[in-house]
Formats: sequence, structure tokens, C-alpha cells
Amino acid sequence: MHEHRAAQTFGTFFPSQRNYPCGPIFGLTVRFRRGKPLGEILVQLTVQVTVTWQVTVTSALISEVKMKNALITGASRGLGLALAQRLAKKGWGLIIDAREENALEAVRAELSGMTNVVAVPGNVTNKTHRKTLVNEALKMGGLDALVNNASYLGPSPQPPLLEYPIKVFEKVYQTNVVAPLALIQGLHKVLRPNACIINITSDAGMEAYPGWGGYGSSKAALEHLSHILAEENPSLRVYWVDPGDMRTQMQQEAFPDEDISDRPLPEESVPGLIDLIEGERLSGRYQARQAAEVKG
Ligand SMILES: NC(=O)c1ccc[n+]([C@@H]2O[C@H](COP(=O)([O-])OP(=O)(O)OC[C@H]3O[C@@H](n4cnc5c(N)ncnc54)[C@H](OP(=O)(O)O)[C@@H]3O)[C@@H](O)[C@H]2O)c1
Repeated sequence: MHEHRAAQTFGTFFPSQRNYPCGPIFGLTVRFRRGKPLGEILVQLTVQVTVTWQVTVTSALISEVKMKNALITGASRGLGLALAQRLAKKGWGLIIDAREENALEAVRAELSGMTNVVAVPGNVTNKTHRKTLVNEALKMGGLDALVNNASYLGPSPQPPLLEYPIKVFEKVYQTNVVAPLALIQGLHKVLRPNACIINITSDAGMEAYPGWGGYGSSKAALEHLSHILAEENPSLRVYWVDPGDMRTQMQQEAFPDEDISDRPLPEESVPGLIDLIEGERLSGRYQARQAAEVKG
């Protein structure tokens, strides 16, 4: 028999060229072969089915299934850390920052066992640092939540307004008001549909506590800024949230002579924040520890 000279691949069909996290990929290859046995034309059809078990999780896949991402400022301890830990357990991708690099790196190492974590050491008042955060959010494929949590109390103990050092007053506003707005401006274009912005405020932004003129008035400014932002952008979910008193470093600095062991841990304020992040509530002011009950 005069065998054919070459097998011609007629077509190859794969339902998808992409990698799936785990599961079979079926491939179908059809070949026509030609030969001339005893003067007749032999057409031989070969059907080849290949099954491959693909176990590689690629970064393309991660964005394909739309892993949720959050940027949390000030996540090396306190409320920011507690929220980052909760979101990591839920599989959210995270961008976190704080000024002290070692503490932030320890958090990154802890959480990266659970999810994709990018740690960017730096000060939210620094323009270059904020640009890096925006770039990281872009690289991650966008954000589903931006949480402006990092904050500066000011001197401890806090001075009355008539004696408040203006340079420090400016720093309080730079951290608590200017930086959150600058981050919102830088990041709003990478917010995904239905993303939310959470600005962490305080009851000191509502109540006129003597001695709280710097921090309290900055939180009042952040609250009003958030409210106006929400009015200007009805399609955005904007929440300004009072987490309540929490047993953290900032609380100890605010009450340097007090035993703060009776304050709830920051973890108790997290379920309310998760409820806001994952829910559909209207923009507005919320108290974190009541957010799960209050209807927006
Ligand atoms: N604790 C309370 O009782 C209480 C009550 C009402 C509202 N709040 C609000 O809750 C939020 C969290 O407070 P917290 O008590 O958890 O504070 P915290 O324990 O002092 O933690 C603050 C976090 O922010 C980081 N941070 C501070 N300044 C920063 C800056 N300029 N740039 C980047 N990161 C910065 C800190 O790390 P580095 O120091 O390394 O930067 C740390 O990770 C704040 O917005 C606060 O105003 C707290």
C-alpha cells in the first residue's frame, strides 16, 4: 500500500484556551489522512480527544473570577488590622499600609497565607506614597472597597484649642481630612461597580468634648466631606463610620492615665463594617457596632 506522505491537521478545537482552577479541559483534534491503496482513495478520519487536568491557578484566573479587593489604610494594628484579618479570611485581596515597616510586614506575612496581600509602607500624608497605593490598586485590577482608617490623634494628652500648636493641628488635618480625600480622588477611577468608600470617623466628630478640638474637628470635617461626597455621587456607596471606643493604641494615647481594659476590642467593630462593605446600604453615617441592625 502506498501510504500517504503527511497527515494534515484539519482543525483543533478547544472550548477554552484559559486555565481553570481545577478541572478537566477537553480538546478535540480532527485530522484527515489521504492514501492511495490499490488505486482507491482512502480517506481516514482520526478523532483524537485529549483530556487534561489543569491545576494551575493563574493571575488571569484570579481577575477572571473577580476576586474582591480592598485597600485599608493603617492596617498594622487596631481596627485596620482586625478588618484586614476578617477580609483576608473571606478571600479578599488586600492593599494595606502603615508607616512602621516591620509591623506592616509582619501583618503581610500573616495574611498572605490566606490571600493576596500587597503591603506598602508609608505615610498617607505623602503624595508619592499615595501614588504607589493607586498604582497597586490598578495592578490588582481595581477595588471593591476603600477604607480610610489611618488617623492621627495629635498630642497626648490633647491640648485645649487656645494652646494647640498650629503645626500639629495642620498635621492632624493632613492625616484625617486631606489624605482621605486625596486617596478618594486618586482611586475613584479604579473603583469597581458597587464599590464602597468607608471613612472611619468618631463620636468626637459629633460631640464637642473639651480638649478634643484638633482631632474632633478633623473628624467632623471628614464626616461633612463624606456627606457632601455622597450627595455629589449618588451612584457611589459612601459611609462615614464611628467604630466606637476600642481597646487600641490610639485609645490609650487619648486617655494616657486610664486603664482602658474595659473598652471592647476592635474586632467587635468589624462585623458592622463587613455588613456595610458587602451589603447594599444607602450612603450615610453609621455606628459600626450597630450597623448590622440599623437599616440604611
Ligand atoms: N480607638 C478608638 O477608641 C477609636 C474611637 C473612635 C474612632 N477611632 C478611629 O478608628 C480608626 C482606627 O483607630 P485605632 O484605634 O485602630 O488606631 P491605632 O491602633 O493607633 O492604629 C492606627 C493604624 O494606622 C496607622 N497609621 C497611623 N498614622 C498613619 C499615617 N499617617 N499613614 C499611614 N498609616 C498610619 C498605624 O500604623 P503606624 O503608626 O505604623 O503608621 C496603625 O496601623 C481611626 O480612624 C480612629 O480615628 C478610634
